[in-house]
Amino acid sequence: ADHSEPGVFSTIADFRRARRSLPHDASVGFVPTMGALHEGHLDLFRRARRECDIVVGSVFVNPAQFAPHEDLDRYPRQLEQDLELLGGEGLVDLVFAPTREEMYSPDHRIYVDPLGFDDLPEGVARPGFFRGVATVVTKLLNVVQPDLAFFGQKDALQCVLVKRLVEDLNMPVTVVVSETTREADGLAMSSRNAYMSAEERAAAPAVYLSLRAAADARQREADAGRNASREELVAAAEEVISAQPLITSVDYLSVGSPATMEELEEIGQAGAVVSVAVRLGSVRLIDNVVLPPL
Ligand code: PAJ
Repeated sequence: ADHSEPGVFSTIADFRRARRSLPHDASVGFVPTMGALHEGHLDLFRRARRECDIVVGSVFVNPAQFAPHEDLDRYPRQLEQDLELLGGEGLVDLVFAPTREEMYSPDHRIYVDPLGFDDLPEGVARPGFFRGVATVVTKLLNVVQPDLAFFGQKDALQCVLVKRLVEDLNMPVTVVVSETTREADGLAMSSRNAYMSAEERAAAPAVYLSLRAAADARQREADAGRNASREELVAAAEEVISAQPLITSVDYLSVGSPATMEELEEIGQAGAVVSVAVRLGSVRLIDNVVLPPL
C-alpha cells in the first residue's frame, strides 16, 4: 500500500467516514498524541506500523488535562511539520486532528474520573490531570475504535491509568506500552524539552542518571541476595540530583508497584518503577525506569 499521503480529518464525522471505508478485517493501531512530534512519538508510530495493518494517529492538545497555571496556550502546535514527519516515513494512514470545539462542546458535561490517581505522586503534582487524560482517551478511543492503542512508558502513571480505564470500562482495545525513547545522553524525549535553555539542557541528563543510580543500587542488593529498600534507591537517586544545582526542586522521587504505581517499601521479586519529577529552571521534567522482576 502507498503509505505516504495520510488522510487528515478535523471532524469526527469525516474521520468516521474514512474509518468505515477501511477493510473490515484490517487490524487498526492507534497512537494518540498532543503533537509537536519527536522521535519518542515516531517510535510509537513505527511500532504500530510493524504490528498493525492500518495506523491512525491523533493530534489534539487536550485542554481538560492542563491546570489553569499550566502551559496550554504555549504548548507547541505544529501540525504541518508533524504531518511531514509522519508522512516522510509513511508511518500513518489516517490522522485525527480535531479542533477544541469538536471535542468539547460548550455544553460538555461528562468526564471520566479515575479514583485514587490524584493521590499517587504524579497525580498529587497535577491534580485533575488524570481525569482529563481518562476523559480524552475515552473519547478518542470511541472515535477511532482501534484494535491496539500505543502509549509510551515515559508517562508511567498514564500507562497504568489507560490499562485500568480499558479494563474497568470494558473497552475492546489492547493497550501496548512501548519503552521510553532517549537522547544520546539519556534525556527522555519530550515536546517540552524545547522550552529549555542551553544551560538547562546540559544539566537535564542528571534526571535519567539519578534513576540509573537507583537501578544500580537495586542490582547491587539483588546480586548480594537482598531486596533493596525504597530508602536506598531514593538516596542513590537523590545523591545525583543534589549534585546538579540547576535542579531547583524535586516534586517527587517514587518507588512504585509496576501494576498500580503505589509506593513500595521494598523491591521484591516483582520489580518496581522508579519515577521522578523535578523542576529544572522553567521546565518540569519527568522520567522513570522499570526495575524488572528478578
Ligand atoms: P504526548 O505527550 O504528546 O505523548 C503522546 C504519547 O507519546 C504518549 O503515550 C507518551 O507517553 C508518548 N511519549 C512521549 N515521549 C516519549 C518518549 N520519550 N518515549 C516514548 N514514548 C513517549 O501523552 C500525551 O500526549 C497525552 O496525555 C495523550 C495520551 C495524547 C492524551 O491527551
